[in-house]
Amino acid sequence: MVNIAKRIAELRKEIKKHNDLYYAKGKPVVSDSEYDLMVRELRELEKAHPEFLTADSPTQKVGAPLRSTFAKIEHASPMLSLESIYTDEELLKFDKTSSEDLEVQHIEYVAEPKLDGFSVELVYEKGTFVRGSTRGDGYMGEDVTNNLKAIKNVPAELKGAKPPALLAVRGEVLMHIGDFQELNKVQSAAGRDVFANPRNAAAGAVRNLDPGVTQSRNLDIYCYGLLAYSGKMPSTHLETIELLERSGLKTAPGARLCRTADEAIKYHHDLEKKRDDLDYELDGVVIKINSLEYQDRLGMRTTNPRWAVAYKFEARKEVTRVEDIVVQVGRTGVLTPVALLQPVEVGGVTISRATLHNMDEIERLGVQVGDHVKVERAGDVIPKVVEVIRDKRSGSERSFSMPLKCPSCGTQVEKEDVHYRCPAGLGCPAQVKESMTHYAAKDAVDIDGFSDRTVEQLFAEGLISGISDIYGLKRDDLLKLDGWKDKKTDNILSAIERSREVTLDRFIFGLGIRKVGKHIAAILMKKFGTLDKLRKASVDDLLGVNEVGPEIAGSISDFFRNPVNATEIDKLMSMGVRVIEKEIKGELLGKKIVFTGSLNKLSRSEAKKLVEDNGGEPISTVTSDTDFVVAGDKAGSKLEKARKAGIQVISEEEFLRLLA
Ligand code: IVH
Repeated sequence: MVNIAKRIAELRKEIKKHNDLYYAKGKPVVSDSEYDLMVRELRELEKAHPEFLTADSPTQKVGAPLRSTFAKIEHASPMLSLESIYTDEELLKFDKTSSEDLEVQHIEYVAEPKLDGFSVELVYEKGTFVRGSTRGDGYMGEDVTNNLKAIKNVPAELKGAKPPALLAVRGEVLMHIGDFQELNKVQSAAGRDVFANPRNAAAGAVRNLDPGVTQSRNLDIYCYGLLAYSGKMPSTHLETIELLERSGLKTAPGARLCRTADEAIKYHHDLEKKRDDLDYELDGVVIKINSLEYQDRLGMRTTNPRWAVAYKFEARKEVTRVEDIVVQVGRTGVLTPVALLQPVEVGGVTISRATLHNMDEIERLGVQVGDHVKVERAGDVIPKVVEVIRDKRSGSERSFSMPLKCPSCGTQVEKEDVHYRCPAGLGCPAQVKESMTHYAAKDAVDIDGFSDRTVEQLFAEGLISGISDIYGLKRDDLLKLDGWKDKKTDNILSAIERSREVTLDRFIFGLGIRKVGKHIAAILMKKFGTLDKLRKASVDDLLGVNEVGPEIAGSISDFFRNPVNATEIDKLMSMGVRVIEKEIKGELLGKKIVFTGSLNKLSRSEAKKLVEDNGGEPISTVTSDTDFVVAGDKAGSKLEKARKAGIQVISEEEFLRLLA
């Protein structure tokens, strides 16, 4: 009994500490699932021993919810992200491919600032603000309604006499730079940590237990898109902005109609010049196709729409000194030189390492150890060295050369075009460790807490030497390790347990096949449906998949034919990993279908979804392996091309009959 009382007291103290770190300080030190486990344990103990229940237990707090109880909310429609581009040429290419896909001569755009804040959804029912949530994973977010109510520019009621039954909008919450600087002054005067940038301060305030904190941070919001609307849909993005404004919502400042891609490019360059004079952070310009019909026709990729791009501003740069150049061995054996820098702050973030990519890049830059260099940081991308300041050389600099042997396993290094590679594969400790971290990553099977450091330690202690060993870890062995207490051990073990059940795309991505990222993994899942079919696929089968070229097909086939990998996958299955598969059946199995012209009964997105649900693949250009073309009214060049190539053409009605 004494032990139970002690454990309850311990848990309450811990949970209160983490609530404070998360809500008040905006700096959580444990993951959501670690926190959830603590709360769950406390709840269970209190249920089993009600004699210890007290009113001040964090499980008993009314009003302010516990961190884990920020309810999850499904968005009215997915909150997608944007593809980033960096040059005028890329924008012109976007313009060209979009016109080709749409079969039109000319497209109008709306350009607007890309606000560097925190994305949220606001839902109004009959004109009243009823719900607001964070972006979360794009489909589900956290219910932060009360905090959003505390933002002065989130109206409680929409303007207008006849409010729509439903209006869900997407917007960006941000903190003005002046308020951010004030906040950091207060933070440091009170001996608290300062926030790295306005975005983090805004995000911390929105995901805070106490709406009072949100209010005190003086946040602002700008809305830029509809997620759902029960009224008559606008026909352009510009009309959407007008609708939002008429409804009393603040919209992205300075949005402008651009009649050509060149006008959008000019908008970008003009705004970039003004960037430092503004009182809020921008990281680029969002360029959206104005016509919503065109938007619908183009549809989306896995996570991005095809009708908009983020044309990013040039990254901010600073000068610092290269203290050393070291070599890292990556998951695929590539040796990457990394510059260790004298720490420097670039756009609010302290940087102490920057990638030098490869030997060609080192030669191109002419960088030596001891050099002063310009480093840049663009968003969340790894910082890189962009220029050597030769005038600052003292003569004591020394040049760098690639080691001849792998720094991790000593194997002779091989040169493969611009890369130096350690060929030892899973015989090289660095590559094994990297493959384990990759397998456990958030976008792969997602084992919370399985960080580089954890892998390093478990590997050094001889507890894991391959991915499948993760599933054989024993509580007693872990508890013997330095720094592993009950809590940490149980958290990791339960995270491992949870990861046993994983969707096929995440599992494929987690295997770390060269050239197979998240996007290709998702395509492979759709195409093959089961792991077994993918493992058995020949290079020719793989080449039949849209977006899979010879290099990717070869890499996938080699991976599954390699006996070490085959054994490792079999072992994973025998250790109880269950891949969630979806055998794809349907009328259109494996068929590639192009839509052209305007459809009457279906919207483009509905038509594409029907194709996918029936095992087919909607594609945007007519090629020799297109199976058929569905032609609506006013079909243009694609119809012509299909006729010339002798590809079957059917009407919308025939398409629907096919599926009936
Ligand atoms: S539109 C489907 N417009 O940038 C298109 N996004 O990198 C959805 N953002 O996740 C986004 N300003 O949080 C759009 N004017 C703007 C924006 C904007 C900032 C953010 C948004 C998005 C991210 C994409």
